[in-house]
Amino acid sequence: MIELPDSEILPLSLKYNFWTWSAQAHVSPIAIKKAKGVYFWDVDGKRYLDFNSTTMCVNIGHGDERVIEAMVDQARELSFAGPGMATKPRALLGKLLDEITPDGLSKFLYTLGGADANENAIKFARAFTGKTKILARYRSYHGASYGAVALTGDPRRTAWEPTVMPGVVHFLDPYRYRSTFHRTNPDISEEEFTQDYLNHLEEIITYERPQTIAGILMESVTGTNGVIIPPRGYMQGVRQLCDKYGIVMIADEVMSGFGRTGKWFAVDHWQVKPDIMTMAKGLTSGYAPLGAVALRPEIASKFSEEIYQGGLTYNGHPISLAAAIAVIGVMQEDHLVQRAAETGQLLTKLLDELEKKHPSVGAVRSIGLFGVIELVKNRQTKEPMTPYGKSSPEMVALKKYLFEHGVYIEIHWHTILIIPPLIITSSELEEGFAVIDQALQITDQAIAMD
Ligand SMILES: Cc1ncc(COP(=O)(O)O)c(C=O)c1O
Repeated sequence: MIELPDSEILPLSLKYNFWTWSAQAHVSPIAIKKAKGVYFWDVDGKRYLDFNSTTMCVNIGHGDERVIEAMVDQARELSFAGPGMATKPRALLGKLLDEITPDGLSKFLYTLGGADANENAIKFARAFTGKTKILARYRSYHGASYGAVALTGDPRRTAWEPTVMPGVVHFLDPYRYRSTFHRTNPDISEEEFTQDYLNHLEEIITYERPQTIAGILMESVTGTNGVIIPPRGYMQGVRQLCDKYGIVMIADEVMSGFGRTGKWFAVDHWQVKPDIMTMAKGLTSGYAPLGAVALRPEIASKFSEEIYQGGLTYNGHPISLAAAIAVIGVMQEDHLVQRAAETGQLLTKLLDELEKKHPSVGAVRSIGLFGVIELVKNRQTKEPMTPYGKSSPEMVALKKYLFEHGVYIEIHWHTILIIPPLIITSSELEEGFAVIDQALQITDQAIAMD
């Protein structure tokens, strides 16, 4: 390994790198040195509890030797194979994915990550139906590449307008806490609430004309836009609308998949079988880049005779596939899906306690180990601690406090996302929550001062 003094890591990284999602003059990256389990350490030896699975991906935790060994073995035997070649990891991973994904999905296209999984998914939906439009939701993120950013509903898309991929129409999410339809009747039953949002979607389908709509793409549980969990009956209702109008249902499980919600995939909570499902992140737990598109065979067979015009040099990279096989093996061996469901109950309890205690907590939600705290300036008006898509001094101070006290966490606008590795123990979860509890004094004070 080439030697470099730790003190050089940050200055050299800053000198030569262009940083994603950043104003270049204002980046201040953590100079990370090593990681194990639910912790990582910076070059000064400071330890962070990883409450965000780093980039919502290290589901099995850091530094698992079983995965590292599998990757090293693969690199020694065959470090690269062309995307058109059959390999042992390709054979094995397809079979494993067939076993763990919802019934009916049995063909897998490997991609480099989540964005290009979604890019390919919409190509399939368009080719299969012969139609063009894709419906997606406003509170969503589907990736940063040309097509994926157009599918994205949040400001990460609007920043690039008007030159994004055409043909995407957005609709509203069934987001109970901030439901425009239900401001004056927040106590509406879950069934009626669901029906209102299905009616909204059907109305949009009608206006856009079903004969123009190829697919409906949704995060099964919305991630960065606020861990929005579909109400009872919603996913089944979307499935029915797709069937009624000949629309391909595409579930984006890039963040919600691989045990995150306490099931292998979030759609499993509602026994809904999408026509196409995209995945990445937890698929390799961040040990190597990989995404996948799972397809119903009827959709794949559209290209039985016709050539699928698409592919990248590194599709199906053997080291990434070997990582994914080993990660799934670890999840099965250590029962991590079940563990996420169990530890998720503690997460729900800890979130409820914070909500009761802190006036700046407007709402909390969680499913499995996928949680969110929504911070508000006023519980009655629900005014968020930052305007939509923006930051505020309170949220900046909150993040600073959490980082200084060794909790690595994602602050997204007015929300705190809780997305720890699935291996987290009860005491580690409580350790992070004790710091959040202290940190929330910052936002509580913001209310008192108003
Ligand atoms: C739901 C969802 N879809 C797609 C993506 C894009 O994945 P990637 O960054 O691997 O391209 C992300 C990434 O955060 C995501 O959360």
